[in-house]
Amino acid sequence: MDPIHGLKVGFSPSVIDEAVNNVRHVLESGRLVDNKYVPEFKAMLQSWTKGSYTALFGSNTSAQECLFRAMKCHPGDVMVFLATGYVTPVFAAERLGMIPMFIDVDPDTMDPDAEQLESLCKCTLVRAFNLVSNGGRIPSNIAVLQSICDKYNVALIDDAAHSFGSQRTDPDGTEHYGGLLGRFGVFSFFATKAMTTGEGGALVSQYHHEAVADAEMYARHGKSTQFGADSQVSHVPGYSCRFSEIDAAIGCATIRAVPDAIERRAEIAQIYQNTLSEHFHFFDYGKSNYYKLPVTSKRGPFRADDFTTVLAEDHAIQLSGKIYPSPVYRHPAFKHRFNWVDCPGAAQWSANHVCLPMHEFLTNHDVTRVITATREYFKDN
Ligand SMILES: Cc1ncc(COP(=O)(O)O)c(C=O)c1O
Repeated sequence: MDPIHGLKVGFSPSVIDEAVNNVRHVLESGRLVDNKYVPEFKAMLQSWTKGSYTALFGSNTSAQECLFRAMKCHPGDVMVFLATGYVTPVFAAERLGMIPMFIDVDPDTMDPDAEQLESLCKCTLVRAFNLVSNGGRIPSNIAVLQSICDKYNVALIDDAAHSFGSQRTDPDGTEHYGGLLGRFGVFSFFATKAMTTGEGGALVSQYHHEAVADAEMYARHGKSTQFGADSQVSHVPGYSCRFSEIDAAIGCATIRAVPDAIERRAEIAQIYQNTLSEHFHFFDYGKSNYYKLPVTSKRGPFRADDFTTVLAEDHAIQLSGKIYPSPVYRHPAFKHRFNWVDCPGAAQWSANHVCLPMHEFLTNHDVTRVITATREYFKDN
C-alpha cells in the first residue's frame, strides 16, 4: 500500500525551473540581499493584498516582534490572543513586557468568543487583538470581532500564518481576505505553509505605511535603508531578521502556484464534505485556502488519537496533524504562569479535532482511500 501523506509541499516542474533560474540569477549577480527579487516579490505580495504596504522579514514571528516595536507597545500593555493560537507571537509580546490574555473559541463553530473579547477591551487597556485564522479558516464572526476592535481602538493584528489566499464573504456581501482582516496582517512563508519560500514572513497593512516602514527598520539593524549613506546609521535598537534575496527569488516562482493549489484543495474538501458528513462535523470554512481541514466527530466521545493511529497503521494514511494539540497557554515554556487560564472551548476543540489529509497532490483515488478507511473506522468504533 502506498502511503498517503497528510500534508505535502511540492511544486510543478515549471515552478521548480523558474525558481532555479531565479536563484542562479541571484548567485550570478553576487547581490544576495535587496536586489532584484526582494522588490519583485514585494510587488507580487502587494497585488495579492490590494496594494498594501508590505515589508519582508525572516519569519512571521520576527515580523510580529518588529511590528510590536513599531507600534510602540509598552511593558504592561495587554495583547489578547486566541487560546487556539500559536506560541511564538505570545513569546514576542512577552519579550516586550506585554501582558498576554487569552480568549476562548466555540468548539462547535471554531469562532473566537466575541463577548470575551469585548469584556477584556472594556476592562483593561488592550493594545491589540492577535487573531489567527486556524487552518486557513477566517472566523465567521469576523465582522463582529472587527467592530469590537474599532469600538475600543484596539489594533487587530491578523496573524495570517495559515491563511494566505483565504477569503470569506459575509451574508451582506462584505468580503474578507486573509492578511487583510485588521490594521496589520502577518504572513509566514515557513516550509509547510500554503505559500512558502522555506523560511520568511511578511507584514502588510492597507493604511499604516509608517508602522510598516518602522517595523522594516527594526528588521534591518535599526537602519532606514540597506544601501546608501543612511545605511551606516541605526535609528532604533533593531534586530537582524531580513528576508534574503534567495528566499525572494524562490517566492517569485512559488507564489504563482498558489491559486491552482487552493482550487484543488477546495475540490478535495468538497469531496470529503459530500461523503463524510455522516461521521464528521465540518465547520463553515468560508472560502478557506484549506491549508488544513479540521473536523470533529459527530458521534459521542471521539478518540482522535486512536483514529489517527488506526488510519496510519491499518491503512498507511497519515493525517495532517492537529492544528495545535493543546491551548497555547498550556505550553511548558510559560512555566505554569497561565495555570489560572481556563478556555474550555479551546481545550475541547484541541483534543477532539483531526485534520484530514489535505494537499493538492492527493489524487481522487487517494481521497477515496481516506473515505473508505474512515467509514471502516466508524463501523468498528
Ligand atoms: C499562527 C502562527 N503564527 C506564527 C507562526 C510562526 O511562524 P514563523 O515560523 O514564520 O515565525 C506559526 C507557525 O507555524 C503559526 O502557526
